[in-house]
Amino acid sequence: MDKSTARNRAELSGKLTNVLNSRSLTNSHKRLADILTKDMTVLDVGCGTGAITRGIAEVVGPNGRVVGIDNNPTLIEKARQAHGETPGLTFETRDIYNLAYDGQFDIVTCARVLIWLSDPLKALKMMIRATKMGGRILIADYNHEKIAWEPQPPSSMLSFYSAYLKWRSDAGMDNAIADHLSDMFQRSGIEEVTITPQHEATKRADPDFQTRISIWADTASSRGIQMKRDGYITEKEYVIAEKEYREWVIQDAQSLTMYMLAVEGVRHL
Ligand SMILES: C[S@@+](CC[C@H](N)C(=O)[O-])C[C@H]1O[C@@H](n2cnc3c(N)ncnc32)[C@H](O)[C@@H]1O
Repeated sequence: MDKSTARNRAELSGKLTNVLNSRSLTNSHKRLADILTKDMTVLDVGCGTGAITRGIAEVVGPNGRVVGIDNNPTLIEKARQAHGETPGLTFETRDIYNLAYDGQFDIVTCARVLIWLSDPLKALKMMIRATKMGGRILIADYNHEKIAWEPQPPSSMLSFYSAYLKWRSDAGMDNAIADHLSDMFQRSGIEEVTITPQHEATKRADPDFQTRISIWADTASSRGIQMKRDGYITEKEYVIAEKEYREWVIQDAQSLTMYMLAVEGVRHL
């Protein structure tokens, strides 16, 4: 399949926009929070509604420069409305395959984006080009094949989840990209590659447990519409998956761990 299928399937809407808004630099891009310093220039690729990007701008301060880009103009508009007044921060509608920056940033980062692309290596090359010599590329992403629920959710959700992974891989997306990033970095000439596990775990005792574990009910309701359109699931199947999963969250769920790695390296070429 060509890039347009992945682009079409990656388009984000519905309750998943609220999931993006609930993220922050410190809770959702921890490795970046550790390496950011004042006055840096940073490019955040696939910034969505800009919640993490705003946190980056607050750390680098008014003498730094932060640019958030996303190919979804609706999300960029929301980002501008919510965070556009932050000093040193701008948002632009751009495609990752067409970045057009050359050696401008101390750090080029993206979180939860390459897993939505059919040509992540090309995207990585564009990110490298945007990085200064001696600057750093930092990518955080999932391996969706290593998700762990405790106990197992209802079979309707497990069926939805396997249809979801197939819908993604048929569009050329790599469901296990977290574990392939360090190879991709090395093949692209990036040096000093390091990996920091950044798994997203939520347990019943956490105050935001219900919201966080419900990401898969929100995914069933919003991605379900697209998967039905593409012939991967029926409306009845995704509606039942959402309903039974929400009941399971209230009654039985104990924990969810989403496997994520933050992989970084330095541009020397
Ligand atoms: C799951 S969201 C992650 C948003 C944010 N980085 C975060 O961690 O919350 C993935 C984002 O990548 C964007 N995206 C997908 N394909 C893209 C492309 N080809 N170019 C630029 N952005 C893209 C989507 O519009 C979406 O906002």
